[in-house]
Amino acid sequence: MKNIIVLVSGGGTNLQALIDAQKSGIIKNGKITCVISSKPDVYALERARNNDIPTKVIPRKNYPDSVTYSQEILKTLNELKADLVVLAGFMTILDECVTKEYAYKIINVHPALIPSFCGEGFYGLKVHEKALEYGVKVSGATIHFVNEKADAGAIILQGVVDVENDDTPEILQRRIMENVEWKLLPEAVSLFCQDKIEIIDGKAYVKE
Ligand code: GAR
Repeated sequence: MKNIIVLVSGGGTNLQALIDAQKSGIIKNGKITCVISSKPDVYALERARNNDIPTKVIPRKNYPDSVTYSQEILKTLNELKADLVVLAGFMTILDECVTKEYAYKIINVHPALIPSFCGEGFYGLKVHEKALEYGVKVSGATIHFVNEKADAGAIILQGVVDVENDDTPEILQRRIMENVEWKLLPEAVSLFCQDKIEIIDGKAYVKE
């Protein structure tokens, strides 16, 4: 059974999707054993507590820079003996001290079709604002491994939705969450926990 640690910073609807998937048996061979938040008082923490999942708050604002913050995260992940780290709406970029030690063991959900609308500065609603500003006709979400560059790790799964003429960033965000993020994130986590993701030449492939 793999030990899953989920990192959050906000409302935690993706965390909820993982919890629901765990309860209904969709996540095979893995268990969420701790939720770590970069902010106190976020609703994601409440969701974890409501489901008897241990929580830890490591506030980003208490650390002077990304390196010292990441060192604390690394120490905690090692203490918790994490097999898989899931960034579920985690809004802090982790330094390479974490991404190197946990190479191909950190999964992120990004709310666009990478390599579009991604990288530093593209997070949350901003991603959907930029997609609508550009006038794209489809968007979606990407589940990928995390490496030392923002949103640049190997892609595991992607899913697409149509963009409608009268979409607002909020409406598009919701459509992508409901149709893609909340389904593909648990699916990717389950594949990982069953050792069904293979890395060849830096690319991720789902084993048949
Ligand atoms: C989600 O849409 C997630 O894809 C996005 O933030 C939202 C968090 O929602 N993540 C990023 O933009 C990371 N770059 P949630 O807290 O309800 O899961």
